[in-house]
Amino acid sequence: MSVHQVEQNIQQLIQEINQHNYNYYVLANPTISDFDFDQKLKKLEQLEQQYPQFLSPHSPTQQVGGEVNKTFQTVKHKYPMLSLGNTYSEQELRDFDQRVTKALGITPEYICELKFDGLSISLTYQNGKLLRAVTRGDGTKGDDVTQNVKTIRTIPQQLLGNDYPPEFEIRGEIFMHRKAFEKLNQERIENEEPPYANPRNFAAGTIKLQHSAEVAKRPLDCLLYFLYTQTPIHQTHQQSLQAIKKWGFPTAEHVQLCQNIDQVITFIQTWEYKRAQLSYDIDGIVIKVNQYAQQQELGFTAKSPRWAISYKYKAEQVETTLLHVDYQVGRTGAITPVANLTPVLLAGTTVKRATLHNANEIERLNLFEGDTVCIEKGGEIIPKIIRVNAQKRHIDASPIPFITHCPACKAPLIKKEGEAQHYCPNEDQCPPQIIGKLQHFCSRKAMNIEGLGAETIEMLYQQQLIRTIADIYQLKHHKDQLLNLDRLGERSVNNLLTGIEDSKKQPFEKVLFGIGIRYIGETVAQKLVKHFRTIDHLMNASQEELIAIDDIGERIAQGLQHYFSNTTHQQLITQLKAAGLNLETHQQAIELLSNVFAQKTFVISGVFETFGREELKNTIEQHGGKVITSISSKLNYLVAGNNMGPAKYEKAQQLNIPIISEQDLLKMI
Ligand code: IVH
Repeated sequence: MSVHQVEQNIQQLIQEINQHNYNYYVLANPTISDFDFDQKLKKLEQLEQQYPQFLSPHSPTQQVGGEVNKTFQTVKHKYPMLSLGNTYSEQELRDFDQRVTKALGITPEYICELKFDGLSISLTYQNGKLLRAVTRGDGTKGDDVTQNVKTIRTIPQQLLGNDYPPEFEIRGEIFMHRKAFEKLNQERIENEEPPYANPRNFAAGTIKLQHSAEVAKRPLDCLLYFLYTQTPIHQTHQQSLQAIKKWGFPTAEHVQLCQNIDQVITFIQTWEYKRAQLSYDIDGIVIKVNQYAQQQELGFTAKSPRWAISYKYKAEQVETTLLHVDYQVGRTGAITPVANLTPVLLAGTTVKRATLHNANEIERLNLFEGDTVCIEKGGEIIPKIIRVNAQKRHIDASPIPFITHCPACKAPLIKKEGEAQHYCPNEDQCPPQIIGKLQHFCSRKAMNIEGLGAETIEMLYQQQLIRTIADIYQLKHHKDQLLNLDRLGERSVNNLLTGIEDSKKQPFEKVLFGIGIRYIGETVAQKLVKHFRTIDHLMNASQEELIAIDDIGERIAQGLQHYFSNTTHQQLITQLKAAGLNLETHQQAIELLSNVFAQKTFVISGVFETFGREELKNTIEQHGGKVITSISSKLNYLVAGNNMGPAKYEKAQQLNIPIISEQDLLKMI
């Protein structure tokens, strides 16, 4: 194949893959199998590795993310990102219609769209390629989050067709589907991180993450609703929406043209109920004048267009009374207060309980026994108490005191400096903590033991058949007792025992995550395993060795040392080893060719001529070096290829870090 043919081949593959991505993610209508798709992607990756001169930053292979953006660059918006006037009342909507009708002399055609509850983003395309993505910021300037936005699969990096303008800006909303939000928040709770209040905050937090590889793991989505071109190419907003859809953009869904304000109001009312069926949150309806000529005639106020308004749905609120406060004990001993309420109907469901998060929240609300409280279900999944109606308070009611001892085991609670949560420190004897730890160990993401669900675990604990995770592996010696239990038949017992045996094949990182050491989530467990390889090395690691690993901070290091210094835990590890669990990794270790780079750290950036990125990383590691992602004063070398990010280059120069080429690196070896 000639070099020219290779280039054509690459172009062809990029085009096909983009089209398939669009079919899959936007139209939800794939035309090839996942396998065939992956083959194409692999082929492209291979060619790009062999011929890096043809690797474009817009290639779909570059969508996974790997860049680090320590600080985002501020970019001035070409067209300011205005907000919309908003209203909660039908009357104000009619006033808006009257103002518009009076100014135009006729009632215009309106176009109604859902108001997506996320964060707005402005995308610039040049010659059909995504050039830049900028957040709203203060409306006149925002943050350049291009690397992170490139990880969102539904946003095209290369447009379809050829009738798009050479340069244009398009705006829309980045958001997260409710299901994905719930799942990810559950993980945060399990990892003892504070949960996000709603999908919008989660999406906003995600788009500002420093590592785009981390962003790529979180399923963000985007819908586009506004096109800015140098010269007008359409007459109506509806035409623009149709055009952008054709170019490959996911666009505002459930759009409706309305001939008068009554039709608008009907649309609003319909969606007030129907919105519960959507997979994402909306907080209202946006009403726009459809004709661009009319939009121009109406113009703008200082803050917002006169040709659009948003109608916001009220978060439903209702009053009820506080019956009592319960305290839940999590698997790591975290204490969460929960308000039990007189059952009340709110946004279609009966609410009996509301979380109070921690002691600070009870204090903020100034909550008294028997108080009348106002609860709200907005974008949030769990209803929350937003305020207390102090006027309805009983004259002899007293404030809710926070408990001082664990409700389950009576141990005195502790609270660490700077943390909001109280903890029960009795981690090995407190029943809800023991049960929680057992359940976590057996869960799908850890040892994935089929047949050992949450309820069975609780029952086996109550029956004193298991107390520690090591006991699970002794159950096979108690088959008779298991068969005697009311709820387990012979088949379930056999399934359970097979599930337990199978779990011994789980790799070390799953075991380490499953043990349930505080702050050790899935990713941290993987990093620790990759670095230390065996549990003995990990148990003997010093604080310095631990924090030298990327993303392992003092909190995690202390958590590990605290855990392993306890003799009960050391015994547990011995028992797990004896049971035959994987407590070391069997993944191929990197074969060391030399030690020239021992103790040296490298950041790789740009595109290289001789090496693929992964290859370069391996080479450095084979010679004892470490590849990290962020540039700090401690970094030893920045290996620079073609087209590296200017921000990185500047930062390395500022910090006086040697910038070397791949040839320099080879010479050093
Ligand atoms: S149009 C010049 N359409 O709501 C007006 N905005 O309160 C451009 N939003 O900042 C905005 N869904 O972040 C428009 N279908 C939609 C929208 C929408 C959500 C957000 C957007 C905007 C805010 C205004």
